[in-house]
Amino acid sequence: MTNHPLKTLIADYSLLNELAENFGTPLYVYSSERLSTNLNRLNQALADNFDRYHICYAVKANSNPHLLKLLHRTLPAIGSDCASPGEIYAARLAGIDPAHSIYTGNYESNEDLKYALENGISINLDDSTSLARLARIGLPGRISFRLNPGFGRGMFPHITTGGEKAKFGVPRDKIAAVYQQAVEMGIHRFGLQCMTGSGVLDPDYFTELLTAILEAAREVEAVTGKTMEYISIGGGIGIPYRDEESPIPIDQLMSSLAKIFFSYYNRNDDNCPALWLEPGKYIIGDAGFILSRVTGLKNSYRKFVGLDAGMETILRPSLYSAYHRFLKVGYPDDEPAGKVDFTGRICENTDRQAIDRPFPAVEEGDLVAIMDAGAYGFAMASQYNSRPRPAEILLTNGQAKVIRRREDLADIYRNCDLE
Ligand SMILES: Cc1ncc(COP(=O)(O)O)c(C=O)c1O
Repeated sequence: MTNHPLKTLIADYSLLNELAENFGTPLYVYSSERLSTNLNRLNQALADNFDRYHICYAVKANSNPHLLKLLHRTLPAIGSDCASPGEIYAARLAGIDPAHSIYTGNYESNEDLKYALENGISINLDDSTSLARLARIGLPGRISFRLNPGFGRGMFPHITTGGEKAKFGVPRDKIAAVYQQAVEMGIHRFGLQCMTGSGVLDPDYFTELLTAILEAAREVEAVTGKTMEYISIGGGIGIPYRDEESPIPIDQLMSSLAKIFFSYYNRNDDNCPALWLEPGKYIIGDAGFILSRVTGLKNSYRKFVGLDAGMETILRPSLYSAYHRFLKVGYPDDEPAGKVDFTGRICENTDRQAIDRPFPAVEEGDLVAIMDAGAYGFAMASQYNSRPRPAEILLTNGQAKVIRRREDLADIYRNCDLE
């Protein structure tokens, strides 16, 4: 029996069949209600424990401007966490104020830095060489650096972004010096940011991480003589991708984080820093799924179920062997009839969305839902093999709205002027 929060929706065969008929497959489907609930839950847990906090939604997880707008309507104070000019642009389209947002680059070009500076977004740098590049363009009033504390944790190694093997951040022993450089350049307002991995379900990890960040902040503050204006612990809060995993108890986590935070800072001080969070997966991950149709069944050396959603539609399984639940539309609790590999129509053997997965009997034409595809789903979709990218729809009270139309073949070649 699956315990997925959208199970009732997946059991509604007539609604999902109608969506498939009206909008075609593969189709990204999002639930307004789930998206708002996730954001409100996190915001409440923060409000209960911190006087100053700020949520910057990680646009990289899903940059559809309609979804960004919905987040902004749900929480008008929300900011965005952006990794590129394109993400700053998307957040602006949705009305999210760049002044409430953060740009975290890595190995940024001069053009990237110029765009960020001109948009008035908080700039978070990955390295001292980024600071030197930025200085040639112009300097913001406030800056932060991304700390690599020397350790990291992710749901799997591919999405662990801290530690000695990670390409990100300023090493722990260089962090004070880079802020010193910024002071010498004339910057006097600071934040500190850290992001060491995605998909973490262990609350104790975040307390360990926050302690390491605050230790580093203390050392930096001794050098700059300034209290941090914000401390961002990045994103990384995981969601259950499997039935046997449990969601992180978010109230408890925020209460533990507050205890640590206020053992370093006096919450009554006027200049006590704000705690910033940059969640992606936690907000949008379980609010979206892919509605897909069985296109072919093959009994070879292995049993294959071919779907019209392949690695061009959802890359995570091929890219990092990520696990997504697959549910039979209309029958999410049906007993498995055997084990199958789910594949798509892409001419690659890594086009495998699940391997040896117990699944109920299916026939060509049946509908299958690929769950928890809201984050890093469409955002990572491609046109590989000249497959147009799918449509996206938003369900609100059971009513569907197209929030991105399906591409067609002409769209793929629109920029290749042949005249
Ligand atoms: C700097 C930064 N912030 C936030 C996030 C969002 O992470 P998640 O979706 O795990 O919350 C990421 C993801 O890679 C990131 O690199």
